Amino acid sequence: MIGRLNHVAIATNDLDKACAVYRDLLGAKVSAPVPQPDHGVVTVFVELPGSKIELLTPLGGNSPIANFLARNPGGGVHHLCFEVDDIRAARDQLLAQGARLAGDAEPKIGAHGNPVLFLHPKDFIGTLIELEQA
Ligand code: CO
Repeated sequence: MIGRLNHVAIATNDLDKACAVYRDLLGAKVSAPVPQPDHGVVTVFVELPGSKIELLTPLGGNSPIANFLARNPGGGVHHLCFEVDDIRAARDQLLAQGARLAGDAEPKIGAHGNPVLFLHPKDFIGTLIELEQA
């Protein structure tokens, strides 16, 4: 069902520092910050051959990553994003097997302009999973 690892998302309270780590220490190509008001985050994309790192920091008072950062004030891996061909078919197959979603059952348009859904970390070895129709 799942295809390419589209990105690994890392949440941080200090986006400037996170950018500096990837750009200056690790020598990666780092994008400018992009506010995503629909998702309550600011994103920075770190381009890697064949995949990406997505750096996330909260935007506004009701950010979906606020609880994560309260538990992990130094930041950390927030989710993995896998590509699927048909996001509704993937959702239906997972729900039929008893897996739970995190958030809405209806796909939302994600940071890359494609439909996304999130799967509950309790069913995926403690890891929040994002599916993106690519
Ligand atoms: Co993501």
